[in-house]
Amino acid sequence: MNIVGIETTCDETSFALVADGTTIISEMTMSQVAKHAMRSGVVPELGAREHIQNIAQLGEKFFQSIEKHKIDAIAVASKVGLPPAVQVGESYAAALAKAKNVPLIPINHVVAHVWGVWVDVAFIEKPAFPFLGLIVSGGHTQLVSFGSPTEFDIIGETLDDAVGEAFDKVAHILGLPYPGGPEIERVSEKGDSHAVPLSIPLENDDSLNFSFSGLKTAVRTYVEKELPKQHETYKEYFVADVAASFQRVAFMHIAQKVEKALKETGYKRLVLGGGVASSQRLTDMLFSYFEEKKIKCELFVPNRKYCTDNASVIAGYAYNLLEDC
Ligand code: KG4
Ligand code: ZN
Repeated sequence: MNIVGIETTCDETSFALVADGTTIISEMTMSQVAKHAMRSGVVPELGAREHIQNIAQLGEKFFQSIEKHKIDAIAVASKVGLPPAVQVGESYAAALAKAKNVPLIPINHVVAHVWGVWVDVAFIEKPAFPFLGLIVSGGHTQLVSFGSPTEFDIIGETLDDAVGEAFDKVAHILGLPYPGGPEIERVSEKGDSHAVPLSIPLENDDSLNFSFSGLKTAVRTYVEKELPKQHETYKEYFVADVAASFQRVAFMHIAQKVEKALKETGYKRLVLGGGVASSQRLTDMLFSYFEEKKIKCELFVPNRKYCTDNASVIAGYAYNLLEDC
């Protein structure tokens, strides 16, 4: 069963053809990240204009690449995302499904983020259900209990900023470019992650929810007070220390809530998805946290390219919904 996926929810225009939910036949992605970087973040209207230009151009190339393959359905990242950008993909996909006379499958791209592991060939054995999903992106931070591909419950989520959003904002405070996550990870290498006194959010709270806005404000307050005191020569080290401390505390907050969710659900598998999951630091921290706390849990993290927004996970996940169409 071959499904075409289309993704335009944020700053990537992406097409993919995926067979039986797991095998990528073709994938093409155009990123607008460089354009948004000049403005320190995604500008929805600018994004939509870019998607309109890119989708036609990329679509032509993509359909040429798959002309020998049959298409059974069109899946599109729908509902969640930047509204003007989402609409570009939705209208393109609707017209395409009509022209090809195949079903149109709207996909919640947040949920589809966990499907990275299924389309990544590195995972020969896919995680068995049930498992805990941790979706960490620029727009969402969610703990999701997956009983099956289509039966899932959001058991925890952020009360304010998403974790990726907090990384982008802290990067901006530190004068680092967008997207902030990879920049913070890079400069942190040289920093001391215990240099800045920051509290782990919601540490004594019983819920499975997250909060990153207070942490971001604490960083801003610290930087505003301490940065002017730094000698020009040492500013680079100051930035590295703040970035490393923020990253450690943000990921410790995630690790603590994951631990709580694993205890509550009794699950022994954790599947990551979303742009922040591409942080090597996050994977390393979760591994050492599990080891230190003697938590028995298998960790599944897809390759970086399947963590961030991409059409392969949209087409892959849609396979599970095909019979409902
Ligand atoms: O899933 P994604 O590509 O788009 C959304 O749906 O939001 O995630 C993008 C987010 C950005 O906020 C970016 O800063 C963050 O993922 N990100 C990271 C890292 N790489 C990307 N955050 C922390 N550490 C990273 N290495
Ligand atoms: Zn996303």
